[in-house]
Amino acid sequence: VRITWDKEQAEKDGFDHYMLKEIHEQPRSLRHTMAGRIDEAKQMVKLPELDLSPETVKGIEKIYIVACGTAYHAGMIGKHVIENLAKIPVEIDVASEFRYRNPLFGQKTLTVVVSQSGETADTLAALREAKRNGSSVLAITNVVGSSIAREADHVMTTKAGPEIAVASTKAYTSQLIAFYLLGIYFAQEKKSMEASDCAALVQELQKLPDQVEKILGHAEEIRQFAISIKEERQMFFLGRGLDYAVSLEGSLKLKEISYIHSEAYPAGELKHGTLALIEEGTRVIALSTQPHLHEKMVSNITEVKARGAVVLGVALEDNVELHRSVDEVCLIPATHPLLAPVLCVIPLQLIAYYTSVSLGNDVDRPRNLAKSVTVE
Ligand code: G6P
Repeated sequence: VRITWDKEQAEKDGFDHYMLKEIHEQPRSLRHTMAGRIDEAKQMVKLPELDLSPETVKGIEKIYIVACGTAYHAGMIGKHVIENLAKIPVEIDVASEFRYRNPLFGQKTLTVVVSQSGETADTLAALREAKRNGSSVLAITNVVGSSIAREADHVMTTKAGPEIAVASTKAYTSQLIAFYLLGIYFAQEKKSMEASDCAALVQELQKLPDQVEKILGHAEEIRQFAISIKEERQMFFLGRGLDYAVSLEGSLKLKEISYIHSEAYPAGELKHGTLALIEEGTRVIALSTQPHLHEKMVSNITEVKARGAVVLGVALEDNVELHRSVDEVCLIPATHPLLAPVLCVIPLQLIAYYTSVSLGNDVDRPRNLAKSVTVE
């Protein structure tokens, strides 16, 4: 008997594509990102790999988060998380903009660069620019020994394991976990949060892998939805706050691999332009996981529906009012509002994946894109 050995097939672990394998790996990759960084007894975060004294943390006056693509979208969540928990002002920049805009650095500025590969040319240049200006640099990266990891002053590795598909999935959710850990850690050092609130958040954080698993159990329903949108020429994603940041990532995933034009919009900004593009039958995906914004989202959904949009809501299980306002709903297990992005992005990753598959596209190697962009 002659057995033909297909290395790539073996590496896909029985999945049709690397992207689907990587989406399904997330319960495990998230656990890896948290492993060794949580003190179980105290329900506190520990980050021994960061060589930052409590005095240094207390002294940080400003943080820049700099990244490209999906890592930039993770950084947008990171900004909310750090500002909310640690009360440090954060600015976020796309690396190719940051390096050419003469940002203002002080002695007490920390620059956080985020890069799955650790080799993105613009992000590396931004890191060097920050260091040249006296800022200390913390890198969040998936590749130990990468250029960015080697040149940064402090490194947090995401430990998501190798990511092969060009469209990033597990690296993104691990970057989010890294930001939660960092935000909680800074909050502990600065005592900007009650210890009991910290502990409660740490507890919710640890539930995420199982909750992701639960969402992955609904892949078939999500596949059906994806098939229903494959003929669309344009799609809209709406959200507010953290949901807007996740909308950008969901929209990017969809356009990268399905080639359907897609826009993400902060829902409150609709009336300043995008509403003009909504017509009978336009497909909209509306994210609503932030309790303080539910009511506002319901009114934005009503606005688009009044113009004929067909809306899929991605919402927390208990958000009954939102369920009633949309045509279809995808439910997310209840969690702390700051953590919702990790759950909410999973159906969006699956929508992009299944739409691309149903169109017969090369899912893992989309046209014109590279996994790692090491030239300017
Ligand atoms: C490329 C990839 C994206 C990625 C971006 C940043 O454009 O196609 O998926 O988000 O680079 O890559 P990095 O390795 O720095 O996270």
